[in-house]
Amino acid sequence: MNNPPEKVVLRINRGEENDATGRWEQYTVPYSDGMVVLDAVLEVQARQAPDLAVRWNCKAAKCGSCSAEVCGKPRLMCKTLLEELDYLQPIVVSPLRTFRRIRDLVTDVAWNYRVNEMIAPFRARLDRKWKFFQRDVERAQEMRKCIECFLCQDVCHVLRYQTEDKPQFAGPRFFARTAALDFHPMDSVERTEFLTREGGIGLCNITKCCTDVCPEGINITDNAIIPEKERIVDAHADPLRAAFAAIFSRPKK
Ligand code: SF4
Ligand code: SF4
Ligand code: FES
Repeated sequence: MNNPPEKVVLRINRGEENDATGRWEQYTVPYSDGMVVLDAVLEVQARQAPDLAVRWNCKAAKCGSCSAEVCGKPRLMCKTLLEELDYLQPIVVSPLRTFRRIRDLVTDVAWNYRVNEMIAPFRARLDRKWKFFQRDVERAQEMRKCIECFLCQDVCHVLRYQTEDKPQFAGPRFFARTAALDFHPMDSVERTEFLTREGGIGLCNITKCCTDVCPEGINITDNAIIPEKERIVDAHADPLRAAFAAIFSRPKK
């Protein structure tokens, strides 16, 4: 293995509001062991480009704010060690492509919060005691690990290649959020209509790209999207279930 370099080169895509292509600027910063991409970007901001816009907060991979595309892949900058990359080559950093640029590495992710508002909140069943299996808790809990970094939204091709007016597609983050509510053993709300209409879950073709980039290791595709698709098929294809749902206020699977 090569000795660590004394310096690393960063190529950062910079631009003003709504500049989709931006311009590439190159910076060289000193390297130290354990350095993450965010360290290098903040070094640039501290000593070479004080007007460089970058969003971050916790530096502990928990707030979800430092999302960017690093060497072509959506990642948290504070969780990406330079030594994990080919740091003898320039480290390429650009903003999330799926969302409108505000400035430099900062994008406008407000669209996601508008999608979130469309999801019906939890409402407890009244016909059952608050007693359920640990495995049912864990199923919902996996989805609640989300830190809203929106890396999965960024990588999903259904959202990525659309204009600012996103199609009728909520995206993997909100399939996981819907699943977190739907999987709760005491929840009484039916969200299949949201998933099929505004959510557009039918457009998802299970490529698993969202799962691959999730920094929390949430198995979005296998544990949220596929079970939700199955619930929708059950709700629409099973005539007995449909009749039962119509009579008894749409009970859940
Ligand atoms: S599995 Fe579905 S939601 Fe996830 S990236 Fe692929 S198309 Fe998008
Ligand atoms: S599901 Fe994972 S990738 Fe998507 S927003 Fe949540 S933490 Fe980020
Ligand atoms: S700074 Fe909080 S997740 Fe990176």
